[in-house]
Amino acid sequence: MKNIKRALITGVTGQDGAYLSKHLLSMGYQVFGTARRGASEKFSRLEYLGVKDMINIVDFDLLELSNIHKLIEEIKPTEIYNLAAQSFVPTSFDLPILTTDINALGTLRILDAIIAKNKEIKFYQASTSEMFGKVTEVPQKEDTRFYPRSPYGESKLFLHHITINYRESYDIFACSGILFNHESPLRGHEFVTKKITKGLTKIKNSKQECLYLGNLKAKRDWGHASDYVNAMVSILSHKKADDYVVSSGKAHSVQEFVETAASILEINYEWTGEGKNLALVNRDNNKKIVKIDEKLYRPAEVDELIGDSTKIKTNLNWKPKYSFENLVYEMVKFETENELVKF
Ligand code: NAP
Ligand code: GDD
Repeated sequence: MKNIKRALITGVTGQDGAYLSKHLLSMGYQVFGTARRGASEKFSRLEYLGVKDMINIVDFDLLELSNIHKLIEEIKPTEIYNLAAQSFVPTSFDLPILTTDINALGTLRILDAIIAKNKEIKFYQASTSEMFGKVTEVPQKEDTRFYPRSPYGESKLFLHHITINYRESYDIFACSGILFNHESPLRGHEFVTKKITKGLTKIKNSKQECLYLGNLKAKRDWGHASDYVNAMVSILSHKKADDYVVSSGKAHSVQEFVETAASILEINYEWTGEGKNLALVNRDNNKKIVKIDEKLYRPAEVDELIGDSTKIKTNLNWKPKYSFENLVYEMVKFETENELVKF
């Protein structure tokens, strides 16, 4: 029993928390997952993956200091994966202070508790490609200069640097994964890939008239969450604590994502107009099914992200299984088969 690895995952109710739990359980870990108390339960992702009953759910909020000390004492984790965050970029413009408190100071609370309670705990921190922001180099790698474009990106830059600082100052095994966008059928409904796959599926089934989107020209390096949680575990399993970019190495625009999903759904489409009048038309009935809503533009945008994951591929032998097309296909298929499910 003594050698069983005990992982504490913060944010287990989110997309990555669900996939990571499943992966760690398959490796024989004992998994503890944190959830915030709320008016209703939110374990649908864990239930969908069939792992809810195999995880020990514990109450936790990143805003509170005492609960992380208590959890470390009670659970005695060998590893902590800090995935919890206010992760939606537009919300960070509306709630910049709360976002910073949760993401940046929340991480510091955990690091400080590790120093105080048990310096042997291995720590994984969810950093992000959003830190590259207004990119200064293409593609982006571990030593590319950071230039965040949102309070979310700024909060993540702090936690990225403080994780490195604690590793160097206190000799703890603390690592940062600089993950590029990763999606799945379990993606939150507000993110663009879920909005597109759900919206177009409903339109195809005559359950929705039109889908409103913001900036269609932005490009992202999209991968699948199940591939990316494998990278998290590889990062903590390596003999040396380090930081890694995790990405597919290919960028697609939001417009290309729309086209790929529409093709999978066999929608006979064409684009009309330009700028804010750009629209996707269903040629079978001449209806505009995707339109621009300028309210969805961001105060500052990250125009193009594309990652160079040579380091993790070379040092840790990490390799993603999903292509962009397979990712979109799986997300569309999920929507066609699970019309009423909303994560
Ligand atoms: P997600 O689906 O939004 O999940 C976020 C999780 O954090 C949820 O479980 C949420 O709980 C929890 N949480 C939020 N505020 C909290 C607080 N104050 N205290 C405790 N828990 C809190 O995010 P994800 O896509 O799985 O991403 C996981 C992590 O990776 C995040 O840190 C995100 O910033 C980072 N990341 C994601 C991507 C990506 O493309 N997915 C890329 C790079 C980095 P509730 O259910 O209660 O809201
Ligand atoms: N959400 C959303 N909704 N985004 C839209 C829309 C829309 O209607 N229309 C266009 N977009 C554009 C955004 O302007 C952005 O350029 C792009 O689609 C992707 O937006 P999101 O899916 O919201 O993801 P994100 O890139 O802002 O952030 C995600 O990835 C980061 C890693 O780069 C989140 O998962 C972050 O937590 C993560 O750190």
